Amino acid sequence: MEIPADLGRVLVIIPTYNERDNIERITGRVREAVPAVDVLVVDDASPDGTGEVADALAAVDGQIKVLHRAGKDGLGPAYIAGFRWAAEHGYDVMVEMDADGSHQPEELPRLLTALEDADLVIGARWVPGGKVRNWPRRREALSRGANTYARLMLGFHLHDATGGYRAFRAATLDKIGLDDVDSRGYCFQIDLALRAVRQGLRVVEVPITFVERVHGTSKMSRDVMAEAALRITQWGVSDRTRKRRPPR
Ligand code: GDD
Ligand code: MN
Repeated sequence: MEIPADLGRVLVIIPTYNERDNIERITGRVREAVPAVDVLVVDDASPDGTGEVADALAAVDGQIKVLHRAGKDGLGPAYIAGFRWAAEHGYDVMVEMDADGSHQPEELPRLLTALEDADLVIGARWVPGGKVRNWPRRREALSRGANTYARLMLGFHLHDATGGYRAFRAATLDKIGLDDVDSRGYCFQIDLALRAVRQGLRVVEVPITFVERVHGTSKMSRDVMAEAALRITQWGVSDRTRKRRPPR
């Protein structure tokens, strides 16, 4: 499928930590589904050798690049490093995508088409038309709960603010400003969505079908959950305090 030419150069950023059995398949699917886009793998020195597999893929395909980082440092810092690399290399659109196949490259043209009239597009599960395949009930409940809590606490319109399949305009990331983002885990996604909404940018959700991974394991942990719960609460409370203050 064609992607809108007026969006400019698109980079798909794939963060990896121990995704050896997934990396070749996901990069191959991206290149096949949308041949015009380039791919950047951001690997945190995966002990299973994902970084070396990615290097081998990059050696035979000039549209695949690899950024190696020193060690596991969380999803947020990995994406920020990827966004900086993209800006330095002149990309106009930055896409976030998991390595494990949960975000289907075949749906990317729909996200990019929606970006023509948006500043940030989020592939969403918890909207009409959105689906999840093979997710344990417990995981679905956690994600729905986190998203409901975020929507109520933060007062925005988003139904899948934790979703990690996204397309940003480069200008959107410039306006958000990444220098003071210090969310490490999956709450990085909420953090960026909230910043975009508070900047008055157009944040649009399009339904996707999220497919649970077959190979490897999730990096979700108690720490990731605790960080998200604490941050959502802090952001919500500070917003309320700010709104109560009389205008100067
Ligand atoms: N470089 C790097 N460093 N990559 C990481 C790290 C890290 O510290 N932690 C996770 N990743 C990579 C994984 O290798 C994978 O490609 C992607 O980030 C998502 O990690 P998963 O572990 O597969 O996430 P999940 O399936 O539990 O969570 C999904 O749902 C979350 C909640 O909705 C993802 O879509 C998340 O983005 C989303 O927030
Ligand atoms: Mn996953």
